[in-house]
Amino acid sequence: MSDLYLTITVFRDERVLARTLAERIASAVAERPRQVLGLATGRTPVRLYHELGTLHARGSADFSRITTFNLDEFWGIPPSAPGSYRAFMEEHLFRRAGIQADQVNFLNGAAPDADAECDRYDNAIAAAGGIDLQLLGIGTNGHIGFNEPGRELASRTHRVVLKESTRRSNAGLFGGDVSRVPKEALSMGMGSILRARRIVLIATGKSKAKCVERLVSGPVTPKLPASFLQLHGAVEILLDGAAAQSVNS
Ligand code: F6R
Repeated sequence: MSDLYLTITVFRDERVLARTLAERIASAVAERPRQVLGLATGRTPVRLYHELGTLHARGSADFSRITTFNLDEFWGIPPSAPGSYRAFMEEHLFRRAGIQADQVNFLNGAAPDADAECDRYDNAIAAAGGIDLQLLGIGTNGHIGFNEPGRELASRTHRVVLKESTRRSNAGLFGGDVSRVPKEALSMGMGSILRARRIVLIATGKSKAKCVERLVSGPVTPKLPASFLQLHGAVEILLDGAAAQSVNS
């Protein structure tokens, strides 16, 4: 029953997936230029972001009136630090797609007070009218944003202690040195994510096959934060063949 609410599309490869989604996002923005987009970092959306940059460079897409909110940021480093998610987004999307600083909303990992920073962010999302389209990746442990598996999930934006596996998979941003990856982060909560009007989750590669299968067919449980997407009603899951290999069609 649970997969009634999820639409799954499998693409020939991640290049076709990225190009198709970039074109869809560009045409949705052409139709309604003031969209609020929720964005993710990580390896998975890089190709998509580069495709959006290419569409912008060709004059086929105009992102000058969108507003963006990123899901998460490391706690304890400033936005200008090379390993920050803000720096990642500048490099892979904002600079390429002509998205200016005043269009961008980000959690500040160097804010004086984490709780106040999280409240500021939830209020900013509400003041922008909520998120129209939330883009998500998925961790191999089923995390979404930095909502790690556990006994319970936070609804609102909050401070999190990162799992070792999550720190290891982010080591590339810190010169491959896991000891330099911050131990904590700020993340939108599952409630904040589920309030988005539409959600598109992308997953590629065989390391994601198991968590995608559990997301689609398993129970809704905080042990797999992504499973809460079954409750949303407007979630699309875009996969390459490797990530889809355990999904029954
Ligand atoms: C990062 C985020 C994370 C990633 C997830 C997958 O903003 O939201 O939940 O989406 O860790 O990361 P990759 O794409 O590197 O496999």
